[in-house]
Amino acid sequence: MRSHYCGVIDETLIGQSVSLCGWVDTVRLQSHVAFIDLRDHEGIVQIVVERESEAAFAQASQLGYEFCVRVEGSVRRRISANDKLRSGQVEVLAQTVQILNKAVGLPFALHENPSEETRLKYRYLDLRRADMQRKMRMRTRLVSALRHYLDGRGFQDIETPILTKATPEGARDYLVPSRVHAGEFYALPQSPQLFKQLLMMAGFDRYYQIARCFRDEDLRADRQPEFTQLDMEFAFIDEAGVQDTVEAMIRHVFREVADVDLGGPFPRMSYAEAMARYGSDKPDLRIALELVDIAEHVRQIEFKVFSEPANDPSGRVAALRVPGGAVFTRKQIDELGALATRYGAKGLAWMRIEDPAKGLEGVNSPVAKFLDAKALQGILAATSAAAGDLLLFGAGAYKTVCDVLGALRLKVARDLGLVENSWKPLWVVDFPMFEFDAEAKRFVALHHPFTAPKIDDVADLRANAANSVSRGYDMVLNGNEIGGGSIRIHSPDMQSAVFDLLGIGAEEVEAKFGFLLEALRFGAPPHGGIAFGIDRMAALLAGTESIRDVIAFPKTASAQDLMTAAPSSIAAPQLAELHVQVIERDGN
Ligand code: AMO
Ligand code: AMP
Repeated sequence: MRSHYCGVIDETLIGQSVSLCGWVDTVRLQSHVAFIDLRDHEGIVQIVVERESEAAFAQASQLGYEFCVRVEGSVRRRISANDKLRSGQVEVLAQTVQILNKAVGLPFALHENPSEETRLKYRYLDLRRADMQRKMRMRTRLVSALRHYLDGRGFQDIETPILTKATPEGARDYLVPSRVHAGEFYALPQSPQLFKQLLMMAGFDRYYQIARCFRDEDLRADRQPEFTQLDMEFAFIDEAGVQDTVEAMIRHVFREVADVDLGGPFPRMSYAEAMARYGSDKPDLRIALELVDIAEHVRQIEFKVFSEPANDPSGRVAALRVPGGAVFTRKQIDELGALATRYGAKGLAWMRIEDPAKGLEGVNSPVAKFLDAKALQGILAATSAAAGDLLLFGAGAYKTVCDVLGALRLKVARDLGLVENSWKPLWVVDFPMFEFDAEAKRFVALHHPFTAPKIDDVADLRANAANSVSRGYDMVLNGNEIGGGSIRIHSPDMQSAVFDLLGIGAEEVEAKFGFLLEALRFGAPPHGGIAFGIDRMAALLAGTESIRDVIAFPKTASAQDLMTAAPSSIAAPQLAELHVQVIERDGN
């Protein structure tokens, strides 16, 4: 049908006949000549149709945006070059113009910026746009580079089941009813975690898979209900073995795919340090701002909002110094307050620094009246606050204060242009093994329940569960957790103890993980691994905030596909066949 792609027609083809296929990006019709910008996945070329070519001109005069056409013609030099286009030195003088398909009643013009809802509903049109083509191509290059790297290093690509049993990663499962086994369900995997561990027990040495994962959880810009991991596992390995191997891979792939240099060995930071300094377990190190603890300066003051958490071992009182932040208006500060509330704060105390030498006279703050000169002095010294700065305060439970000030740190840095234009990778290590879920009144695993504790001894772990540290690690890049993994438990006794500490009863363990405990008894090797978020890496490389931009057909924040209208209801006979009865929601 065609001899060349539109976007690559250039001076080397001058004088040659070409046949091109693509879409009408623009069309300008004049009395004696028509100009068409013809676009395909490679780019745009200008087509000229002269009135003398009667049939071609007649066709050209019927064209509209996004018509699908085929053009035959010859390449010639353009009179006025367009340096923005790769094909900008030349044009194609058309002999024939053939309309392959019309485009009638387009919901939006591709040059416009329609709402995301419209883009998702007509995703195939959205994807025609050059920017989306570029982003999707970046993703293809990323996956291809990863595969190439691993295939050359003895990793075996092995597929694991999609219809399976629950593999917990902390989200809800998507379930699939079984027709053959009435009342029974498959779960879609939240990750291939258990299967990859079993592959190590099966004697494979290094595994990888580009694996689709399914998680029913609250969605955000960096989370989709189905997403793709580069999943990896290694037998006979320790933390350094996994980290060194995958760090080299990531460094190589970023250089190859986007000419990005991620620098020397990635720094390692403990979870505790990341929370203390940045209020986050995925710190964005492009931002210099840090949280400063001020509990010691406010322990004695009357203001209970500060003094109570300052005297509580599980509390935190911290300040974030925003250099030049005094420029924020009251309205902007109120918006920061609203953000703080969303992250669990009861309020947001703040302080504008006018003249630090003047003590309480030199600051403007709703909490100044609760402070004495000594407390203020301590706070100003601890934060090194200077005239023109803004201090934001968090006081309350340790984790909440971290979450609040961590979120404010990102927000103010973006607002004030304090995010360095660079790449800042790091490893976050030494995560707590367990987190106490106050609502459920039990421990939950911070990674997943198969992550090994640093403590080898089961009795020691039981005695120190609340303070135990795991052998997990996350790779963080510019404030995004792009990968996470761990050394696994390979002893059946330790695995049983961890299930027990997580409050999973013996019966439930047997029903859900009996096969794993059994496999661990048959000579399971020490093993460990990691999984990278392909969508998140592709988004970073493509320079976009949302992973939806690098997924061809993503879902909305409420897990819907606006194009196909999934999920949707199922007719009664099919439900009956699946032995499923639907409980109508109240009000329906
Ligand atoms: P984890 O749950 O940390 O670990 O996931 C690994 C990586 O997958 C990406 N990711 C997501 N991306 C898009 N949407 C989501 N909903 C989503 N959830 C996670 C992140 C994350 O770092 N089995 C373990 C890995 C292991 O221990 O080897 C696991 O799945 O980039
Ligand atoms: P209140 O006395 O409760 O009205 O609080 C006085 C100031 O402290 C107000 O500016 C509140 O927004 C702020 N504030 C209240 N609770 C907190 C908190 N947990 N952390 C930080 N600031 C707070």
